[in-house]
Amino acid sequence: MGTTNIEYNIPFVQEVMEATRNMWEMGWDERNGGNISYLVDEAEVKKYIDVTKVKRTLPLEFPVKELAGKYFVVTGTGKYFKNVTLAPDVNLGIIRVAADGMSFDIVWGYADGGRPTSELAAHFMSHIERLKKDPQHRIIMHCHSTNVIAMTFVHDLSEKAFTKTLWQMCTECLVVFPDGVGVLPWFVPGTNEIGRATAEKMKDCRLVVWPQHGIFGAGTTMDETFGLIETVEKAAEVYMLVSSHREGIKQTITDQELTDLAKAFGVTPVAGVLKV
Ligand code: 13P
Ligand code: ZN
Repeated sequence: MGTTNIEYNIPFVQEVMEATRNMWEMGWDERNGGNISYLVDEAEVKKYIDVTKVKRTLPLEFPVKELAGKYFVVTGTGKYFKNVTLAPDVNLGIIRVAADGMSFDIVWGYADGGRPTSELAAHFMSHIERLKKDPQHRIIMHCHSTNVIAMTFVHDLSEKAFTKTLWQMCTECLVVFPDGVGVLPWFVPGTNEIGRATAEKMKDCRLVVWPQHGIFGAGTTMDETFGLIETVEKAAEVYMLVSSHREGIKQTITDQELTDLAKAFGVTPVAGVLKV
């Protein structure tokens, strides 16, 4: 692809390379499953990329004026996380949203003529909501974490019930995601509709479960976002282990204990889950 290998020296591209590799190794991203978008400051991008050289401009089907002029590293649609480290300039791209929010310029990557993830609507709309909550917000991460998917087959899909079970599965869960998880109904993926619904949930929490599909996470750093999903996936794994145990669940963390935990760690559990 005529790569100069400059991407191996770009720290924010490196971070996406590492994350995709780790996610694939966790078994969360079979084939082309999963996608990441990473908001990077213009000054940081300009240190490494000549942003006046636009490779292609592509239209957006949904307006994102709030993101005008912003730069994102985004995984390519149809690309395998397994392969990102082998050819980052093919599997990733850097894009800049146009001033009117109706298109974006590709300034680096997608070297085989590719384009950003089919879930770009969910990513961009979620970035808009999370940035309103926290100007430090940077990352949207989607993956097909196995036990979260499994849990959506056998657990009540009400957000409060789903959140409470996750909190009960590992003591630190409540501390890591006191806002709980949002849960959508089943949707066709890659649509503006699932994007809008995901972003609506992102107004209140940083984790959104897509039943029989996977999870979306949001955060300020790659580590933090990865850690959020890792924590939910671990709790879902414990749930899948204990719920199928022939002895059944004999004890769990009580609502009073969860309340004591929240107090000790200075977090506020989302209202309506704990009954104390
Ligand atoms: P992309 O290959 O378009 O990123 O889609 C993968 C996916 O996980 C869809 O939900
Ligand atoms: Zn997916």
